[in-house]
Amino acid sequence: MPIILAIESSCDETGASVCRNGEILSNIVATQAIHQQYGGVVPELASRAHHQHIVPAVGEALKKAGVDKKQLDAIAFTQGPGLLGALLVGMSFAKAMSFALNIPLIGVHHMKAHVLSHFIEAPKPQFPFICLTVSGGHTQVIIVHSASYMEVVGETQDDAVGEAFDKTAKLLGLPYPGGPLVDKYAQQGNPLAFQFPEVSTEGLNFSFSGIKTALLYFLRDNTAQNPNFVPDNLADICASMQHQLVKILMQKLKKASKQYDIRRIGIAGGVSANSGLRKAVAETGEKLGWEVFIPKMEYCTDNAAMIAIAANFLYAENKFVPLHAAPLPRMPFVG
Ligand code: KG4
Ligand code: ZN
Repeated sequence: MPIILAIESSCDETGASVCRNGEILSNIVATQAIHQQYGGVVPELASRAHHQHIVPAVGEALKKAGVDKKQLDAIAFTQGPGLLGALLVGMSFAKAMSFALNIPLIGVHHMKAHVLSHFIEAPKPQFPFICLTVSGGHTQVIIVHSASYMEVVGETQDDAVGEAFDKTAKLLGLPYPGGPLVDKYAQQGNPLAFQFPEVSTEGLNFSFSGIKTALLYFLRDNTAQNPNFVPDNLADICASMQHQLVKILMQKLKKASKQYDIRRIGIAGGVSANSGLRKAVAETGEKLGWEVFIPKMEYCTDNAAMIAIAANFLYAENKFVPLHAAPLPRMPFVG
């Protein structure tokens, strides 16, 4: 019954979570508001904010779990991918605790942890299943053969879908982080009001840079004719853009399900919080007889509970890292 403390610090959320034998006892997330005024994550400010948040976040996670640090069996941290300075803060803290308490250290791959967020709560998928992993930095179709063996069979050739949402928001003058705001306005708009282009890509790969450029020109041309075009049509633009982004994701997800003959389908990562995607996956699943797995909202965006669950699997396999382990901003997705 291992008790594991997990720390997430790959981007702009400082997370700490405690799990006992795979059951989450606490999940604390400290969001960094500082980036809002810059319209995006400023890496150096993220590192400094992690530094400020990490002690109270870990303290709260232990307290809420009712666990003393002496009861811990291992310390897990996000080793990558992510921002180097941000990763360094979480990793150094984890190393210090591991050294002081003389317990093993577990390095977790952030994107694999997003996939394994499906094992935080029931219903948990059986293997193999397909996971569409969609975040601010990644867009991947993954065949999940087991908790440790995952095969990326499709990914973006340029921007991630989360970036497409964030850039849409930026072009519309909405504050960072823009994805949730595009989602909010989209719910009041007509998804068929405007047409944005389909970008054809090979196999199960994606491309989102063309649609972003299309939006840029679309806004420029329409604003030239009507300076109030954006405020007058905000909800319809958001709804149409979201509709198109979700459509692109769904096309590839359906293709993957057919190609690999797998009907257990999950979504994970920040963009899996999107209401349009959640609805599309649920409806398509019903139509095509999929068994659908959609994480709770709090487990979609960055959190330490998913790091704890991933670490629990690694603990069972005795997969520990040494004290001289380095953070890996571009941590490879091996197996
Ligand atoms: O997984 P995540 O929290 O961090 C990374 O690992 O990147 O994902 C963050 C991304 C951002 O691009 C954010 O705008 C997007 O997820 N996002 C959303 C929604 N909530 C978060 N995009 C669309 N609709 C949402 N509701
Ligand atoms: Zn993430």
